[in-house]
Amino acid sequence: MADPHIIVEDLVKTYPGAARPSVDHVSFALPRGEMLALLGPSGCGKTTILRMIAGLIDPTAGHIRLNGREISQIPVYRRNMGMVFQAYALFPHMTVAENVAFGLEMRNIPKSERAQKVARALDMVKLGGLGDRRVTQLSGGQQQRCAIARSLVIEPELLLLDEPLSNLDAKLRDEMRDEIRDIQRRTGVTAIFVTHDQDEALSMADRLAVMSAGRLEQIGTPRQIFDAPASEFVAGFIGAGNFFPGRISAPGLAEVEGIGTLAFDGAGTPGDAVKLMVRPHRLKLAQDAAPGPNRFAGQVEKVTYRGQILTLAVDVAGRRMLADMHTHAGALPQTGDRITLTVAPVDVTLIGGGGA
Ligand SMILES: Nc1ncnc2c1ncn2[C@@H]1O[C@H](COP(=O)(O)OP(=O)(O)OP(=O)(O)O)[C@@H](O)[C@H]1O
Ligand SMILES: [Mg+2]
Repeated sequence: MADPHIIVEDLVKTYPGAARPSVDHVSFALPRGEMLALLGPSGCGKTTILRMIAGLIDPTAGHIRLNGREISQIPVYRRNMGMVFQAYALFPHMTVAENVAFGLEMRNIPKSERAQKVARALDMVKLGGLGDRRVTQLSGGQQQRCAIARSLVIEPELLLLDEPLSNLDAKLRDEMRDEIRDIQRRTGVTAIFVTHDQDEALSMADRLAVMSAGRLEQIGTPRQIFDAPASEFVAGFIGAGNFFPGRISAPGLAEVEGIGTLAFDGAGTPGDAVKLMVRPHRLKLAQDAAPGPNRFAGQVEKVTYRGQILTLAVDVAGRRMLADMHTHAGALPQTGDRITLTVAPVDVTLIGGGGA
């Protein structure tokens, strides 16, 4: 990566009195202008990483470098970070414009310049004309945009967003996802976005970092994380999967007990015990029940209708598999039906096998 904008190196945080570190030797680098989604279950250390980058708490060990310069010792008010947190923390007694101007006042920006910058920031988030409103008179989405304007107006070195959409309803969330992404692209600001929502991460970020219990499990593009997960944890956290323990019998082939031979994308080392994954939407209904590799004969146990998609739970040799089918006007599988599912070798993933 050419000259990363921010580098986090071996970052550790052990809170006072804690038995285990909350952030455990995390390292990653992010190029200028990219958006990174920090993703993982509750308590895995996402907010703690953001707070260390912002300077709100000190790391126990490790380095944070911005433009090649160590910033761990620089106090929070000198780091020039734009922050948007879950509760927007707007000042309720102030107008929208006053809220946005706050950070500029703190930085002693002259009044005339302030007004211009505020107007520009409000236009950016489509709140132009609402500057004189009180923030209590804004909708949830508008308050969210006000919080973003407030963080952007200072032209931050980094934009740090900690689950900024978590208290919006589903529709507004979708809209705001697009808007935040759009604002980030237009301003070119490097951003780190915390979420535990996989859809949000996949659709918004250039790069995803998946964490578990303080550790970074994998970092990569959405496609790499989804199609070539480094571990079963990552595979299971991002999307649904059918997992099969197997043994490599020849390059590109694995034997799975009760199922038979699975041909997969890649080679593997003959004799190795491995784990393979098939995403539910990559399975197809076979037209015949002939045996062979990459075929799963079983009985439909449960059918869940989801509108565009039908999810089948299928008992295959005592193992429950999930398969997503596109719905159509014709007959669809029903509970009790005996069916055979197939999958292309390219859609069978060797966990930790790299690729994509
Ligand atoms: N001030 C603190 N003192 C002690 N322990 C803390 C403190 N803040 C967080 N922790 C602990 O550190 C771990 C990571 O917390 P953190 O807030 O970073 O998680 P998170 O990934 O942001 O979770 P969530 O998705 O729930 O927001 C948790 O086990 C938490 O209990
Ligand atoms: Mg958090």
